[in-house]
Amino acid sequence: MAQEDPTWKIFFDENPKPVHFHENVNLIQDFCHQASVKKNRVALVTSGGTTVPLEQNTVRFIDNFSAGTRGSASAEYFLEAGYQVIFLHRSKSLEPYFRHLVGKNIFDMIEVSPDNVTVDKKHQFELGKLAEKFQRHKCNLLMISFSTLSDYLWLLQATAQQMQILGPSALLYLAAAVSDFYIPASQMPCHKIQSSGGPLSLSLQLVPKMLAPLVTLWAPNAFIVSFKLETNETLLETKSKESLLKYHHHVVIGNLLDSRKVYVVLVDSNSRNVEEIRLSTSDLESDIEIESKIVGNLKTRHDQYYADHKTGAISN
Ligand code: PMT
Repeated sequence: MAQEDPTWKIFFDENPKPVHFHENVNLIQDFCHQASVKKNRVALVTSGGTTVPLEQNTVRFIDNFSAGTRGSASAEYFLEAGYQVIFLHRSKSLEPYFRHLVGKNIFDMIEVSPDNVTVDKKHQFELGKLAEKFQRHKCNLLMISFSTLSDYLWLLQATAQQMQILGPSALLYLAAAVSDFYIPASQMPCHKIQSSGGPLSLSLQLVPKMLAPLVTLWAPNAFIVSFKLETNETLLETKSKESLLKYHHHVVIGNLLDSRKVYVVLVDSNSRNVEEIRLSTSDLESDIEIESKIVGNLKTRHDQYYADHKTGAISN
């Protein structure tokens, strides 16, 4: 009897590729090729929540919690650490550099005279510094966006596969908040669900955990870091360890919904010890972001991984 396809394959058979998929894969391929020629390291940073549409012509959808703070801030620190970055993010969530402008009114920052428009004195320093950083790093940053769970998983698979060319120079940093439940395309109504039909009951299918094929098939030589989000502190360490044991990747970063901006735990496949990163009061007073410490910590681990696996691969 023929063996059944694994559930992750069935997911891709049943859910169509996103629009502009091939254009995006070409961009990713060129970006990885250039990085390998330049012998640069590349970090894939995933960021933001995935949506699960309830209708094919989507009016309503279920969303996963994530503003994109973790991913967008981390992307900046990876760029500063010398990585090229593929930023796979939820459309309209926070983006590197632009995140610093969110909530600010641009009209409050400019002065308009009859023949000139300038940035006012108060904002010149801040905006100038930001623009300078952006200009310096923009050629090392590739931004690709998604909205739905299915778009995200198609792009994740394709990006990981394209990054194979980089061998152990590739780092995957999976900070996106990925849904565990979805409605397969074939079971989704075409048009808007009508409230005249009465109360709505939904039946959602389980999404296969894509970390399994990611680690073994799509990016077997990359350094892979996943996040584990919990709301119950007593489960955080155990769940993070379980994830590492189950998928055999390199680091799991556990975080709690309430304290994610000041506290994380790192579980590493090479060490029995769990490391904590916690921002101190003086870190907070100096506007230090936890992502700068997370990225610094991972860079050291990736250096070691690279040194252990570089035979036959490009150097950095
Ligand atoms: O953006 P912010 O507001 O700053 O928030 C950041 C964050 C809290 C969202 C981020 O730090 C975080 O924890 N992201 C991971 C959230 C998540 O999906 O956790 P999880 O426990 O549901 O999944 C664990 C791992 O399995 C994840 O690496 C995920 O990519 C993976 N997964 C999940 C579902 C699925 N169907 N397949 C998967 O492979």
